[in-house]
Amino acid sequence: MTASKHNISAALLEWYDSHARSLPWRAAPGSAAPDPYRVWLSEVMLQQTTTAAVAPYFRKFTQRWPDVQALAAAPEEDIMAAWAGLGYYSRARNLAACAREVTALGGFPGTEAELRKLPGLGAYTAAAIAAIAFGERAVVVDANVERVVSRLFAIEEPLPGSRKAIRANADTITPDDRAGDFAQAMMDLGATICTNRDPRCLLCPLTEACEGRAAGDPARLPVKPPKKAKPERKGAAYWIERDSAVWLVTRQGTGMLGGMRALPDDGWTARADGSGEPPLGGEWQSAGLVRHVFTHASLELSVFRHEGGFDPEGEGEWWPVEQIEEAGLPTLFAKAARLVLA
Ligand code: ADE
Repeated sequence: MTASKHNISAALLEWYDSHARSLPWRAAPGSAAPDPYRVWLSEVMLQQTTTAAVAPYFRKFTQRWPDVQALAAAPEEDIMAAWAGLGYYSRARNLAACAREVTALGGFPGTEAELRKLPGLGAYTAAAIAAIAFGERAVVVDANVERVVSRLFAIEEPLPGSRKAIRANADTITPDDRAGDFAQAMMDLGATICTNRDPRCLLCPLTEACEGRAAGDPARLPVKPPKKAKPERKGAAYWIERDSAVWLVTRQGTGMLGGMRALPDDGWTARADGSGEPPLGGEWQSAGLVRHVFTHASLELSVFRHEGGFDPEGEGEWWPVEQIEEAGLPTLFAKAARLVLA
């Protein structure tokens, strides 16, 4: 590292010592590394999800499953249900598989390369755990870090093509010591100072080194590709009630919402659109529409209700309506249930 690169990490760490966000999975700046289990769990939860949304889930999971062995011994459906509402449910399936593998290994491996081999651990997560839990000098690049580095080095190439350059530049400022604090300091700087719009450059510890600021308009960076319009999809879901219980299914496979409890539906996930209609037979009432935005599509879900002895086909379970909150429905179906019960 050259002197000026060293100054960047030193200035950032000094800022972090007094400005680190206090988060439930964190150790205070400069103190001993936190438990790898807590680092791993938080990093998986934080993928594409905000710290505010993650915090209550992190507390719930660590109270119920205080270590990786406890999580490995939990039935997968309990983990899926506890994850309900956090989204990107393949993460929960991978979490269960990874917990079992780590338990079989006798604990978390301590290097980025070994961590990368665990189920569901991508490059970012392996680097983050290696740095934060084991102090390994790893280059940790999430969306916040991409923004900070793009501005700091005035990288003009648009994302995602610029990822290689971002990584190479992040590497040049990553220090040998306090790797975990440095990674989290970059994240905090991106989340609180070097924000997407209106970066607060006057409060930034790196303002003098920032080439994006020197060029006049740091908020322009990183250059993003034009947004694609999301496809609009339509589907239907069915509330079938009998004796104060509602018919729930468990979605099969590893596709969208796979492994999650759900209302039965018209198959909209498998096709571009479902029928949007109730099944044949009996008297169906419309309960209204639910709109939901997934990463890849926007969905308009028509919800139909049947309360007169409709016989559902296939596998499922009658779930007491009064306990619907405990069913672990993903947000889409929780919205549909709320609509019916309103
Ligand atoms: N986002 C992802 N990992 C994080 C961490 N350890 N602290 C804050 N934000 C994060």
